[in-house]
Order: sequence, then structure tokens, then C-alpha cells
Amino acid sequence: MACPFTPQRMLSLPPQTVYRKIVQTGKLAQKHGAKILGLGAFTSVVGDAGITIAQQLDIPVTTGDSYTVAVAIDAVKAAAQRLDIRLSRATAAVVGAAGAIGNVCAQLLAPDVAEIILIGRSENRLNEVKYLVERAGCPAVHIDTRMDALKKADVVITVSSAVDSIIEPEHLKSGAVVCDVARPRDVSRRVVEQRNDVLVIEGGMVAVPGEVQFNFNFGFPPRMAFACMAETMILALERRYENFTLGKEISLAQVQEIAALAKKHGFRLGGFRSFERPVTSEAIDIIKQHIDPSILTQRNGWR
Ligand SMILES: NC(=O)c1ccc[n+]([C@@H]2O[C@H](COP(=O)([O-])OP(=O)(O)OC[C@H]3O[C@@H](n4cnc5c(N)ncnc54)[C@H](OP(=O)(O)O)[C@@H]3O)[C@@H](O)[C@H]2O)c1
Repeated sequence: MACPFTPQRMLSLPPQTVYRKIVQTGKLAQKHGAKILGLGAFTSVVGDAGITIAQQLDIPVTTGDSYTVAVAIDAVKAAAQRLDIRLSRATAAVVGAAGAIGNVCAQLLAPDVAEIILIGRSENRLNEVKYLVERAGCPAVHIDTRMDALKKADVVITVSSAVDSIIEPEHLKSGAVVCDVARPRDVSRRVVEQRNDVLVIEGGMVAVPGEVQFNFNFGFPPRMAFACMAETMILALERRYENFTLGKEISLAQVQEIAALAKKHGFRLGGFRSFERPVTSEAIDIIKQHIDPSILTQRNGWR
């Protein structure tokens, strides 16, 4: 897996410099016998999301984004359960819903929630996604261009391409789960500083099957990996040496396929992380104690 330098340094460099470093790393991996290269974290979103890098290597490349989406959906569902949110009665929101990742996330959530709010900048583009989300099985789909619409959402997935944070403490409903898949983040750090009644996660950690030892400390507990890393492992276990996820477009079918392969090989959600740290069970219990009592009464009525 390519990890040539820190995210902060990578964001400050021109894409051509970043490509060159990743290609150098890929060639080294090739020389050592690697049959596929995975682009984790910021290396997956730089420039054209892997296309240029794949053209310069003899081994295939995958960004890991398909499994990232699958795990984000699993994580948000598991987090909702942890906060006693019954999805079939809940309102979900997807920010950046007209985007490549946002529209797939909205379609994946559609069959499980009561209502979805699609948030973005262009009503025309949101209306196109609305049709897909209705077809995917959500009975009530709304569009909105204001972040204030989040005040109604019990569950939020945010995946915009905004450069600065766009979700602030005042936008969120008490007891909400927010999964921030965007890079850079959509959720302002002020949310975790000021809102002790909402759970912000960045997708999930993946528990890798077997007694694997990475020999590399990326801040996770033993045998836990990022979903993007896991996608490469899954493809290698399947001997699927191909450019599985490349470029900005991600299809529903790709996400469903990698999720099924992950299950087959014993990969599963291993916990949540928030602002680069694992979220403990105790931290979730503390959030639950701060949720507005009227929301808790409403959720108790859902059972
Ligand atoms: N965590 C990971 O491993 C991972 C992997 C891949 C991608 N990502 C991140 O996921 C995000 C989305 O990627 P993508 O490929 O889906 O991008 P995309 O196709 O460009 O879609 C981004 C969407 O965000 C919308 N948007 C931009 N600024 C906004 C704002 N201020 N308010 C509301 N909506 C706004 C855009 O609206 P318009 O339609 O008006 O342009 C667009 O629809 C990026 O941050 C990317 O870095 C993360």
C-alpha cells in the first residue's frame, strides 16, 4: 500500500510531485513482487484518483474507495443502533448527494430509512439523484441546498468536495450520528468540541481476518485496517489483480461486489474512528447521556 508521506505534506505539494512519489513507491512494490497497488487515504483522492498512477505502473491499482463506501454505510448503521436510532423510523441526510460517492451512499441507505434529505448545491443535479434514491426504495426523498436541513436528520453521511468544513455545531440534531467521508473533512472540529450529544465518525475500522501483523503503526489497534487498505487485501485474496476502483466514478454494483467479497473472506466492521482516533464504547455512552430528553422519548416510542 502506498504511503509515501503525511497527508498535510501531500496536500501542500503539486499533484505531479505526489504522482511521482507514489509511482516510485509502486515500482518498489512491483520489484518486491506485489501484484496490485492500493492507494490509501489522501493518495486515493489526489488528481484523477489513481488513473495517471495506474498508467505508469505494470501492476493494477485500486483506490479502495468502493470498500470505503461499503464500510461507511455499515458503520453508520452500527452507530445508529448504538444510539438507539431505529433506521426504519429515522430521517437520513446525505451532504454532497449529487457527487460520485454521495449518490451511491444515498442509494445504499434508501431501503433502510424512513426518509432521506439530499443536500447539495444544485437543485437540478439533486433532482436527478432523487429519482435514483426513490427507485432504490426510499419512500420519502427531499432535496435541499441549506445545511440547516440537517436539523431534521438522525443519521448523516457527508461526502462533499468542499475545501473548508461546512457542518457546524448549530446544524445538527441532538442524538445524531454523522459519518464524515469527505477529505478534507466536512465536519468542523467545533462540532466535537461543542456538541457532546452527537456522534461524529469517519467511517469504520475494518477487522482483518487471521493473525495479521502489519509491522506499521498507523494508529489503529492490532489487526485493524482502513477500509481502503482492506479493499486491496480482499482483491489479492481473490487473485483479482485488476484496476477495481479507479477514477472518480464509483458504481453501486462495485460497492456491493466488494462488500460481498469482504464478507466471504471474513473482513468485518471492527469499530468506529473519529478525528483519527478510535471511538471507545465509553465515549458513546457519554454521548447518550447528553442527548436531549425529548429526542430520547421520541426514539423510545419507535420501539
Ligand atoms: N475517505 C476516503 O477514503 C475517501 C475516498 C474517496 C473520496 N473521498 C472524499 O469524498 C468526497 C466526495 O468525493 P466525490 O468523488 O464524490 O466528489 P464529487 O463527485 O466531486 O462530488 C462532490 C459533491 O459535493 C458537492 N459540494 C461541493 N461543495 C459543497 C458545499 N459547500 N455544500 C454542499 N455540497 C457541496 C458538489 O456539488 P456540485 O454538484 O454543485 O459540484 C458535488 O456534488 C471528497 O471530499 C473526497 O476527497 C474520501
